[in-house]
Amino acid sequence: MARQLIAGNWKMNGIGMHLAELRAMVTRLPPGSDERAEIVICPPASLLDRSRAVAGEMMALGGQDCHAKERGAYTGDISAQMLADAGASFVILGHSERRQAHAESDETVAAKARAALSAGLKPIICVGESAVERDGGIAVDVVLSQLKGSIPGGADAERLTIAYEPVWAIGTGKTATVNDIGEMHAAIRQALVSRLGPNGKQVRILYGGSVNPSNAQEILALSEVGGALVGGASLKAEQFLSIIAASHTL
Ligand code: PGA
Repeated sequence: MARQLIAGNWKMNGIGMHLAELRAMVTRLPPGSDERAEIVICPPASLLDRSRAVAGEMMALGGQDCHAKERGAYTGDISAQMLADAGASFVILGHSERRQAHAESDETVAAKARAALSAGLKPIICVGESAVERDGGIAVDVVLSQLKGSIPGGADAERLTIAYEPVWAIGTGKTATVNDIGEMHAAIRQALVSRLGPNGKQVRILYGGSVNPSNAQEILALSEVGGALVGGASLKAEQFLSIIAASHTL
């Protein structure tokens, strides 16, 4: 079985002093952890460079968004190449907070993913339904349509990760049931295989949305769950380490 990917999304949290938390994670990671799980922290871009010095060999870093263009007059934006230059090897794209607050469409996400791949980064493309869509019984349709539009043509399956994050589960303490996660991940897997052929089987599908030390093991044990995208619980060394430990027990 492929290594699980446990990624922490710090969102707009963290200034220099919070690197102590990252240092605590790195120093307390049991030896060999990186052989059993791929561990990634996505700090704010302002901390990437300094995080690189702290993260060491066992942890990779990621950005939280990038622009679709390589450079130019895009005030306030950051390119995939800049993230790579600052030490990132992953980038989260199409997070629901970006889709909502920045009106990012599937096409925008696909263009960003293309840019990320050409800069040598591994995109983590997020998809997920709202509460209204789940209640309306269209969660799977919504997610598959986001997936279809957000993966760029000719994407290299080996460097692609998908994160299923129900919008209503993010930061709320609510998680999808294991049945719902199982159903969604199976549908995503099927769509990936029909889009990418046998390589679609290798793409890791993460679950995200209120993953914490108490629910991680049950979620990570599901057959099509290839890891977790963790928000709040990734800001605390102890919690993030116990989620990583849950992936090891599989
Ligand atoms: P959460 O965030 O774990 O705090 O719910 C997950 C995410 O937004 O990626």
